[in-house]
Amino acid sequence: MSNNPGSSSAVREERSPTQPRLQRPPGPSRYLLPHLSRLQNQPIEYFGDMWREYGDLVRLPILPGFTVFLATHPDIAEHVLSTHQERYEKPDLFLKTMGLIQGEALFTSEGEFWRKQRRLMQPAFHQKQLLHLHSIMVNCVQSLVREWDAKPAGEEVDIAAEMTRLTLRIVSSTLFSIDISGESDELGRALRTALTYVYHRMTSPLSPGLWLPTPRNFQFRQAKKTLDRIVLEIIQSRRRNPVEHPDLLSMLLEARDEATGEGMSDRQLQNEVITLINAGHETTATTLAWTWHLLGSHPNVLAQVTDEVQTVLGTGGLGDGILGDGVPTFEKLPQLQYTRRVIDESLRLCPPGLGLVPRVALEDDEIQGYFIPKGSIFNIASYFTARHPEFWDNPEQFDPDRFLPENASNRPRFAYFPFGAGQHTCIGKNFALMESLIILSILIQRFQIDLVPHQRVEIDPRFTLRPKDGIKVTVQPRA
Ligand code: HEM
Repeated sequence: MSNNPGSSSAVREERSPTQPRLQRPPGPSRYLLPHLSRLQNQPIEYFGDMWREYGDLVRLPILPGFTVFLATHPDIAEHVLSTHQERYEKPDLFLKTMGLIQGEALFTSEGEFWRKQRRLMQPAFHQKQLLHLHSIMVNCVQSLVREWDAKPAGEEVDIAAEMTRLTLRIVSSTLFSIDISGESDELGRALRTALTYVYHRMTSPLSPGLWLPTPRNFQFRQAKKTLDRIVLEIIQSRRRNPVEHPDLLSMLLEARDEATGEGMSDRQLQNEVITLINAGHETTATTLAWTWHLLGSHPNVLAQVTDEVQTVLGTGGLGDGILGDGVPTFEKLPQLQYTRRVIDESLRLCPPGLGLVPRVALEDDEIQGYFIPKGSIFNIASYFTARHPEFWDNPEQFDPDRFLPENASNRPRFAYFPFGAGQHTCIGKNFALMESLIILSILIQRFQIDLVPHQRVEIDPRFTLRPKDGIKVTVQPRA
């Protein structure tokens, strides 16, 4: 493929009458609007069919003036997200829809504004700051352990819902030291209503504008107002009364731009806090839900994880305090190497949201000899790249040892990017990995968790790829 610095002039020449025209990528010749509902409801099957039929770069004409490109090859992901990232940015449709709930913030901005926010926020996610958040995460998991301990042995629970509750508890506790995961919590309820609305808009491009007085729009506006009000109150009260134990909000309040010495305004902090709650819980919850399902259906892998957890942490239970015997301390986490490979493999098979990373071309470009006109919208799909038969043997098989260093070293870097890549790479990657290791290791150490047999577990492919009707497991305290 062409990824040398001269390729943009090659593209400009594409329109010169003396040069042969570059071809457009292959794809269906008819507009796909009539098939939109299949694309919305069965994106895995639909994109998979297109990939198999047309190859690694597919042109999907949705309606006149709106064409989407599906990219499934690591070299294309590398070109768009890394080596030529300055030619691409997040598309307006994505920024505006996500912006309905988050406003202009790290996840929903580009350009100078985004760069400034990234500079301000990056230090709060450094490894040494994560050390401060570790004990908050352990406390949150311990409170779930206490809840499960109080249940009759063998009680059935929906582990997907439990993971959503737990990751919401963790993200709100690490952010501003408040648990918003309770059913009756006003902020948690407003967040759920607002998120449902945004997911609906993302997947229904023909839905009526927010300004129309429909009941759905009204409900969203009320929820957004509540979210803004409560988060702003938390920020203002924190400015008046700083806390002793650092959480993410206290780090963000202290953050100063190196160039100007300025911090964030209340409004900016409000948008960033809502962004972090939003980006930081559903993704990890979905990953963990599928990890439990994969472990439940691969008893040999579960046995190996259990063995590792008991060897590294001991079998003494959690003790009374967060540093009691059996706690996955910050120092012990890197020793949970097999458990980490299980998480990596789960993210390969089930990346939240199909691992779709949307981008729009800011200028004409050339990729693998094809002409990419300015304005083209790309879906870089890690779900398919991480199943590409050129780079993965038996791609549908669950095999954590693919991530042993000796097996991973031969794969191109962009064959696997569940956390994105390039300048927008996930700021919460280490947060999410630490959280997942803590949750899995504590719960496996304390409970035997078995899938309820004969249940139908289906993917809800809209937006986050959650299990549609949850995942039922039984939970027994270990002897
Ligand atoms: C398993 C869990 C997670 C996965 C798979 C995941 C995945 C991703 C991906 C693929 C991107 C890149 C999007 C793009 O380039 O368009 C991203 C960005 C982002 N993620 Fe995550 N994420 C996870 C957890 C988290 C957590 C825990 C947080 C915060 C606490 C977080 C906050 C963010 C933010 C703020 C961005 C935008 C970064 C930027 O544009 O500079 N994520 N994430």
